[in-house]
Amino acid sequence: MNDDELLASRYAEIAASGDHTSTASDVQLRELEIEYARGFIREGDRVLDVGCGMGYAAIEYARIPGTRVTGLDYISGMVDQANSTLVDVPEELGRRLEFIHGSVLEIPFRDASLDVVTSHRCLMALLTWERQREALREIHRVLRPGGVLVLLEGTVEGLDRLNALRTAMGLSAIPADGRDRLLTRKFREEELLDFTDSLFALTERRGFGTYYFVGRVVHPLLVAPDPPRYDHPINEIARALEQHLPNLVDCGHLQAFVLTKGVE
Ligand SMILES: C[S@@+](CC[C@H](N)C(=O)[O-])C[C@H]1O[C@@H](n2cnc3c(N)ncnc32)[C@H](O)[C@@H]1O
Repeated sequence: MNDDELLASRYAEIAASGDHTSTASDVQLRELEIEYARGFIREGDRVLDVGCGMGYAAIEYARIPGTRVTGLDYISGMVDQANSTLVDVPEELGRRLEFIHGSVLEIPFRDASLDVVTSHRCLMALLTWERQREALREIHRVLRPGGVLVLLEGTVEGLDRLNALRTAMGLSAIPADGRDRLLTRKFREEELLDFTDSLFALTERRGFGTYYFVGRVVHPLLVAPDPPRYDHPINEIARALEQHLPNLVDCGHLQAFVLTKGVE
């Protein structure tokens, strides 16, 4: 099995578990991601969430009045799970929300047909820079001029900045390749922005450093020798602190890049 097949089979297993937290084990961080991305979605917008997993974020975006939201995932089990959650959402919201099977490399939408595209750690799963660029071009194609891509993905430099703090405090560095859980290819910030420069304007860039500092530095120090846990209450405090004091220390792999398609 090559890495792509291995990753797809891991995602299929995760989908079969039906546990939406298994596509984002750091659930507090995902809440921060969603809250951040919501700030770029306006009432009535046509929204696509690529790599939607079991649909958690897409449902939140559909709560914004009048939006029409599609979640897209290349694992059919993810789409099935996402569709199964539709029975629990209010009917009016469900009518504006759909989940479809397909790849971010071939998005089944017409050119310039969307207002907002969100990616919560999907492009990292493409494993090569070449395919990540292909996905960025494809997202650019489906966005209308002035439309916005909210990219929430890991970067090498963000992790390095976090690891510098961790090692200074005697903690081990978090491995870069994500192999302990899922294969991923983190972006290189300069490479990413050099490339997107030809397609998009960088509207905003944001780290979640307050959350990472408390969650990945203070938390493990506090609970040692026990291992840190994603469901530890200190992560809730870390999230609340992030909301009040955003990115106080610029560190942490997950970074947000808000990219606006140029108006020709
Ligand atoms: C880390 S998970 C995140 C899932 C979800 N966004 C969340 O936050 O819970 C990445 C998701 O991207 C999907 N994915 C990976 N490659 C994809 C591709 N080429 N096209 C569409 N989805 C893809 C995976 O199946 C998985 O559901």
